[in-house]
Amino acid sequence: MLWIKNVTVIDPGQGVSGVNDVLVQKDKIVEVGPSFKAKEVLVKLGVTDINEVNQIDGDGKYLFPGLIDVHVHLREPGQEDKEDIASGSRAAIRGGFTSIMAMANTFPIVDQRAVVEFIKLQARRAGMARVYPISAVTKGFKGQELVEMMDIKDGGAVGFSDDGKGIQNAEIMRLALEYVKLTGCPIISHCEDEALASKGVMRRGRTSARLGLPGIPASSESVMVARDILLAAETGGKLHIAHVSTKESVEMIRWAKGKGIDLSAEVNPHHLIFTDEDITLTDTSYKVNPPLPSREDQEALLEGIIDGTIDMLATDHAPHTWEEKARPFQEAPFGINGLETSLAAVWQKLVQSGKLTPEKLVECWSLNPAQRFGIEGGTLKPGSLADMVLFDPLYKEEISTEAMESKSGNTPFLKKELQGFPVITWVEGRMLMKNRKII
Ligand code: DOR
Ligand code: ZN
Repeated sequence: MLWIKNVTVIDPGQGVSGVNDVLVQKDKIVEVGPSFKAKEVLVKLGVTDINEVNQIDGDGKYLFPGLIDVHVHLREPGQEDKEDIASGSRAAIRGGFTSIMAMANTFPIVDQRAVVEFIKLQARRAGMARVYPISAVTKGFKGQELVEMMDIKDGGAVGFSDDGKGIQNAEIMRLALEYVKLTGCPIISHCEDEALASKGVMRRGRTSARLGLPGIPASSESVMVARDILLAAETGGKLHIAHVSTKESVEMIRWAKGKGIDLSAEVNPHHLIFTDEDITLTDTSYKVNPPLPSREDQEALLEGIIDGTIDMLATDHAPHTWEEKARPFQEAPFGINGLETSLAAVWQKLVQSGKLTPEKLVECWSLNPAQRFGIEGGTLKPGSLADMVLFDPLYKEEISTEAMESKSGNTPFLKKELQGFPVITWVEGRMLMKNRKII
């Protein structure tokens, strides 16, 4: 039995936002309510000696339902020098994420049931965050032939995506949205028109011109967002747009939702926090795809979150080795390591500054992902699994590769101090992280 006292519970799933006590029995939440009520429940459950109950003082801290990250690259199988399922799922727990979705751009690519089952097995062995595999849409990410969707779904995939690469052929995307209906899962679209993106390495604009770097126009994303929305409307297939980064995309998603089209969308913290103006030739940790947006785009992304056009936050955790990221800007791989810094970064830069409420943060990073992908978690309603995060808004930490569980340190926050971190993470009532360390 676990009794968390006087903690500020933020749980939009049951409309709770305020100081409460929380009771957990084995793997489930049994009570969220005022202190006197918790005591009554303890008596009802037959607890005679309160000292037998594991008690935690939550004064000054928040309790969130475990965060759910729908966009993570775990690199296993095939690129275990960057990350593996064990290190990535430990990083998740340290960052406050109790469930994560693993993208399919591994080696081999996740385009067969056996690979999905392997990922699930490795995740179980790691015993950390729950890991939900995402399957490729097309065999070998070639954009030509669809995977065996039903078989792969039966193996445990919860979505389909060629993330890392846009599906260039509109007819293939149309077919994917048609067939995916049988599975009930969404197609997660990495919207990028390769002809428009060409060899660009950052957002096309004044800064790319000044730095002399080839630019990626905003349209390389937006034209594909438009295409996929129209295809989702025509087929009725479920669509999720990954890493939205332009104002035009936000506007089109808003329009599509107004029409009742079955779609959801995510935005990555780095797109809300940094802009193309932060990029310098010497720091490749800012190199990411889609690239960091203009200030105007960033404002539209935040507006999209606030008015519900954008449903989710997702890290797009993309670990790369130091050697790869040490290459010149044009040659370094795209990607930002996000699991262990994103919650703190969003808290400090957006919640503390009053741009985002804690309720919205939890809605976008826990409740909406659970509901959209039909997975456990997302709320602390009595009867739910006790996936929880105790969050200390005052905890400060300098980001260092030594402390990180991830194998890679490619984050713009390296050697910088952030404030507001998870201090305990539980999965199904099991405490897996305490005082910023995996236990
Ligand atoms: O920055 C990125 N990194 N964007 C992607 O789409 C893929 C990802 C990766 O796998 O490294
Ligand atoms: Zn990705």
